[in-house]
Amino acid sequence: MLQVGSQPHEAFAELSKQYGSLMSIHLGSLYTVVVSSPEMAKEILLKHGQVFSGRTTVEALAACGHNKYSIGLMPVGDDWRDMRKICKEQMFSSQCLERSQQLRRQNLQQLLGHVQKCAEEGRAININEAAFITTLNLMSATLFSMKATEFDSSATMEFKEIMEGVASIASVPNLADFFPILRPFDLQGVKRLAEVNIGRLLGLIEGYINERIRIRRENPNAPKKDDFLDVIVDSLQAKDNKLTPKHFNHLLLELFVGGAETNMTVIEWIMQELVSHPDKMAKVKAELKSVMGDEKVLDESKISKLPYLQAVVKESLRLHPPAAMLVPRKAESNQVVNGYLIPKGTQVLVNEWGMGRDPKIWNNPLSFEPERFIDQKIDFKGQDFELIPFGSGRRVCPGMPLANRILHTVPATLVHNYDWKLERPNASDDEAKGVFLGFSVRRAVPLKIIPYKKA
Ligand code: HEM
Repeated sequence: MLQVGSQPHEAFAELSKQYGSLMSIHLGSLYTVVVSSPEMAKEILLKHGQVFSGRTTVEALAACGHNKYSIGLMPVGDDWRDMRKICKEQMFSSQCLERSQQLRRQNLQQLLGHVQKCAEEGRAININEAAFITTLNLMSATLFSMKATEFDSSATMEFKEIMEGVASIASVPNLADFFPILRPFDLQGVKRLAEVNIGRLLGLIEGYINERIRIRRENPNAPKKDDFLDVIVDSLQAKDNKLTPKHFNHLLLELFVGGAETNMTVIEWIMQELVSHPDKMAKVKAELKSVMGDEKVLDESKISKLPYLQAVVKESLRLHPPAAMLVPRKAESNQVVNGYLIPKGTQVLVNEWGMGRDPKIWNNPLSFEPERFIDQKIDFKGQDFELIPFGSGRRVCPGMPLANRILHTVPATLVHNYDWKLERPNASDDEAKGVFLGFSVRRAVPLKIIPYKKA
């Protein structure tokens, strides 16, 4: 455990050079297998996908019963299938996402307003914060048809604080996760802190659902908003519904936290890579100019006409997958893989971060070269195992279609309308290093860049 340290994705990548692409490691009493090649990832996630469809979880996520109701943590079963079906058909289908597009456009316009203000004042933007508020607003628009929260408002900051609290829970090394005998004592107070943060967020979400139920009761003939909240209220009131209100509360919590944290992290990395590579930035700008012309905000239907921007997103996800080791899986039964027995209950981590930087898989793996994806069929949808930032198989990320839209439209809107420069061009390279924080690998020091318009 000491050898693994605080940056497990880096330590595992180093260890796999010596021990191979399927290595086992005892993390306290948690027997773990780390996968470090596309071939082994395919064996685990696809060929033996049913066996490895379980999840291990950390003790803190048992706070407020979250692990029991969470779509991302519960074992594959009827409740999980019902929730996945709702996500797939009623929320992330292209039809549903088309319907909520207009609201997301408004959010991007609001982001532009904020950037314009900073440009006029010559003020740097904390991209992590701006991306957080924007993704939060994009998620609220998609889930609740809710108006955007204001930039710089105290309510937004409070929401950010709660979300960061929830997101960071999973990462705090908690001895109780490795030595279950310590669980009842909560020696580090991790679970208590989790109860507070998860409880606050659940309280907010419950408020949204109850408010919608009230509005519907008082105005039974008012037109529906057709958002996810309506889907939830319909599902709750449907006769054949087997899910409880708790399932829906926890589902919304997970969609919010999972969606905002990951997208925000990738947007920051995309902007960091573009600002550090002016030649690539110029190529993106030229492509956007030819497709968007005088439009300020990128229409989601135009993403398919922007191959270079798509390559930039893929390249950023290759180098900076926010879920560096995906989301831990668990063996539901004994399984032999590549001649090795993986016992039931084993935690399985796929080191996506390590694979993205492996010279056996990629030429010049450490350099940012979106061109490698031009004229290449490799995509991140879960079929090409050298690039699986959203996972693969039956537990692949259900939010990928929404993430795909957000990851293209936000950077496109920022890059098309402004030029950008670093607030502190001579800052140490260490500030741009990725550190394992919460569930994702983020930039060590938030990126601050100044928007301006070239004369
Ligand atoms: C699961 C990555 C955005 C909701 C996952 C997994 C990964 C992932 C690696 C585990 C997949 C596996 O085990 O094979 C990402 C990345 C995102 C992103 C990189 C954006 C850049 C989103 C969004 C949402 C979302 C926008 C929803 C709004 C979920 C949920 C699960 C999940 C609910 C659990 C699925 C299950 O266990 O059945 N995501 N995600 N994610 N993601 Fe995402």
